[in-house]
Amino acid sequence: MQKSFLLAPSILSADFSDLRSALAFIEQNKGDWVHIDVMDGHFVPNLTFGPPVIKALRPHSSLPFDVHLMVTNPGDLIQPFIDAGANSITFHIESAIHAHRFISIIHEAGCKAGISIVPSTPVSAIMEVLPDIDLVLVMAVNPGFGGQKMIPRCLDKVKELKKIRQESGFSYIVSIDGGVNKDTLSSVLDAGTDVVVTGSAFYSGEIPEILV
Ligand code: DX5
Ligand code: ZN
Repeated sequence: MQKSFLLAPSILSADFSDLRSALAFIEQNKGDWVHIDVMDGHFVPNLTFGPPVIKALRPHSSLPFDVHLMVTNPGDLIQPFIDAGANSITFHIESAIHAHRFISIIHEAGCKAGISIVPSTPVSAIMEVLPDIDLVLVMAVNPGFGGQKMIPRCLDKVKELKKIRQESGFSYIVSIDGGVNKDTLSSVLDAGTDVVVTGSAFYSGEIPEILV
């Protein structure tokens, strides 16, 4: 399959006892970014990794680290993850009253800024930051865990964001996250997504098989 999208495998579904191999597997299987799911056990009912782990992984991959903050206080973690080697920081609008300020902080540090919306959040909730943002991460599952079933209705937001971008001239790219596998990939691409985040279907070998 000719890849017309950026592939951002999520290490959430990797073998946590061997993350260096998980990074190598991304590079060996046409991954473009490393999607790093940071969870604080409060914004979502799961707890993953912090800046020290990302700092340890940084020297072992030349790919951009696409950090997805599923945390209640993203403002506290933006700088530590940038210092640890993140290339882009995506935070949730649901956890950020001061989203515009966070975007400025991320940009001032020379990183890309992303905003994410959970399935129950409409695109209208992020209209005010679309002019400033580099990436919109549309969650197609309720965040917290890999291996969940996609909520197909979320793809309508991808289409809506692409239409807004075309009409407005904004420059953000659209990423979809959650439930992408061999059965849902074609509908995801038909919706026009620019970036595909995939965890369980990537590390199970399902997505690499399609991309051979
Ligand atoms: C879920 C994470 C996703 C998840 C994707 O909260 O944000 O990135 O790891 O995993 P799959 O592709 O298995 O749904
Ligand atoms: Zn994610």
